[in-house]
Amino acid sequence: MKPILHISDLHVEPVGKLAYAKANTARRMIELTEWLKHHESEYEAIVVTGDLSCDGNIDAYHLIRAVFSSLGRPSFMVPGNHDRRKPFLESLSSFCPGYFSEQNLSFSVDLGDYFLFLLDTLQPGIHWGAVPDAVLDKLETELEKVNKPTLVFSHHTPVKPGMGYMDEPFGNAERLLDILKRHKNVRMCTGHLHRPVTTLTKTGTVVVTAPSVSLQMLLDLTPKGGDEFVFETPGYAMHTFLEDGWVTHFGQLPFQSDFSGPWPFVNTINPDE
Ligand SMILES: [Fe+2]
Ligand SMILES: [Fe+2]
Repeated sequence: MKPILHISDLHVEPVGKLAYAKANTARRMIELTEWLKHHESEYEAIVVTGDLSCDGNIDAYHLIRAVFSSLGRPSFMVPGNHDRRKPFLESLSSFCPGYFSEQNLSFSVDLGDYFLFLLDTLQPGIHWGAVPDAVLDKLETELEKVNKPTLVFSHHTPVKPGMGYMDEPFGNAERLLDILKRHKNVRMCTGHLHRPVTTLTKTGTVVVTAPSVSLQMLLDLTPKGGDEFVFETPGYAMHTFLEDGWVTHFGQLPFQSDFSGPWPFVNTINPDE
């Protein structure tokens, strides 16, 4: 089976509006569509781990729907802290088949050789993430049942990455990690950090974070880090299961970057509904 292509943090604004007064993320979707189509034979499916929009704008979601419904491969997505569930569902529900409820869009997909479980960790109005017990009950039951190589995706990372402001809590992390540690061929894959990062949980699960498609976080590993972005080359992660387990490759997206910054996340909101 071909690899799973993992992209994250698109932060799309409608045409004519720049994200954080700097990034033309609507134009980035045109470049992304071309790249995804050109490389379609190299991946099985696409997973997008949240922050599809900057503030849950419905026109941004319609733009995203146009991109991903034009492709020949299936795409799956869950929201991040900059998304709003209601407009997300209104426009993008076809990319979260069988979602848990309107209050939590978690779902799973059986791709034959691989099993995917996408966790919705969005808490309205809050920057950091959490998973409700009811969703973890479902994860626990399904992982016991499927017994095949599995990728668990979410926007937020349940391990502190040492990036200043991004060293946040993650609600129910302990129970989540306890479930994951019981399964050998499970890798967790996240976004939110806007950088390629690999961590190992204290319970032994590998967590890999895909960089952003649109803007990267300044690599500042001090207490004041994790709060500014730079225009570095954007990228993606590609997860594949080989003889010895999951392998993740990180790649670059060939989109023009001027390496300017760091810039502040101006007018940033975590939508509260
Ligand atoms: Fe983000
Ligand atoms: Fe985020």
